[in-house]
Amino acid sequence: MGQRALITGITGQDGSYLAELLLAKGYEVHGAVRRVALEDPEHRLLRLSAVRDRVVLHAASLESFASVYQLVAKVLPDECYHLAAQSFVSYSFDDEFSTLNTNINGTHFLLSAVKDLAPKCRFYFAGSSEMFGKAEQIPQTEKTPFHPRSSYGISKVCGFELTRNYREAYGMHASNGILFNHESPRRGFEFVTRKITSGVARILAGKSKELSLGNLDAQRDWGHAREYVQAMWLMLQQPQPDDYVVATGETHSVREFVDLAFSCAGLDYRDYVVTDPNLFRPAEVNLLLGDCTKAQTQLGWTAGTGFDALVREMVEADCRTLGVTGQVGASFARP
Ligand code: NAP
Ligand code: GDD
Repeated sequence: MGQRALITGITGQDGSYLAELLLAKGYEVHGAVRRVALEDPEHRLLRLSAVRDRVVLHAASLESFASVYQLVAKVLPDECYHLAAQSFVSYSFDDEFSTLNTNINGTHFLLSAVKDLAPKCRFYFAGSSEMFGKAEQIPQTEKTPFHPRSSYGISKVCGFELTRNYREAYGMHASNGILFNHESPRRGFEFVTRKITSGVARILAGKSKELSLGNLDAQRDWGHAREYVQAMWLMLQQPQPDDYVVATGETHSVREFVDLAFSCAGLDYRDYVVTDPNLFRPAEVNLLLGDCTKAQTQLGWTAGTGFDALVREMVEADCRTLGVTGQVGASFARP
């Protein structure tokens, strides 16, 4: 029997790619899901459709230590990837309390249960470039100080420090990924990239006339999620646990993303995009740019998908879903 992995947040973008990667490597893959997911699999397990019959899903509540403890006791994983989180930064301004609760307590409960029940288990925490926030250095490395700008960012700093402390205090093989933004056709619709690419497809399909966006000047280091889950796995294969920045080393503005996504479809974004002041954040993270030299040298990991290819893949996928056919770069045929 191969290694046994437990993934929290398996229904999300990264969880679904990671489940596929681990299955391909011969792992027995277990996933923690919310109870409602098991009752509405067509919608809530959509991203897992390719592997649904090869993963073992367990209903568990991140808000309950007893539930997390029982989960770990049942699975006794060799590797645990903690991806579940309230991951939408904008929403964290509307609901700081549940963001902090889920993201901090969920991480603490899981670390504590793993320490007691499966102390040899290797643990991955999904840290974020949002921890750098109002970044004090460009580009950001593992040594750049944190300056989070939202309760989401604060919750990730806390999860990062808990993970590091369990490593130092209890000798756990616990690693932090400091992942910069990563996207794919499986990205949630609330995030700006997918909002844009699905918006382009809806406009082409005649379902929308415009697209409302917030701050077009924010800059992000955007990579492909399928590649970023490989970095998570590589971290847990190292003899020693550590913390790693995972990024492309290129930054682009939201405006550049919009411009390219619309031009892929033969459209000029200025004819469709409207700016809505309500979509601006109370405290913005203006510029993220990662330096992943450490991941390159120690893990042998590099980002493969460039910005153009990422945008095109996402536009094409959303167009295909809405029945808009055509080739990127050429004009699309309306359904
Ligand atoms: P995602 O698509 O939003 O997935 C989030 C996952 O967390 C989903 O499976 C969701 O389950 C689960 N979850 C949310 N709240 C929960 C709760 N209260 N109880 C149990 N499960 C809950 O996020 P992602 O893009 O895959 O990101 C994975 C992780 O990496 C997250 O921790 C995120 O903060 C972090 N991260 C992401 C990026 C990025 O650019 N994607 C960068 C850095 C760090 P449901 O399906 O039931 O909602
Ligand atoms: N969501 C959204 N919607 N963002 C917008 C919009 C809009 O209409 N208009 C402009 N933006 C800007 C945001 O203000 C932000 O500067 C940027 O687009 C990216 O926003 P998101 O796609 O929501 O991602 P994020 O950078 O806040 O957070 C993502 O990346 C983090 C890693 O840096 C999430 O995946 C986090 O979970 C992750 O930790």
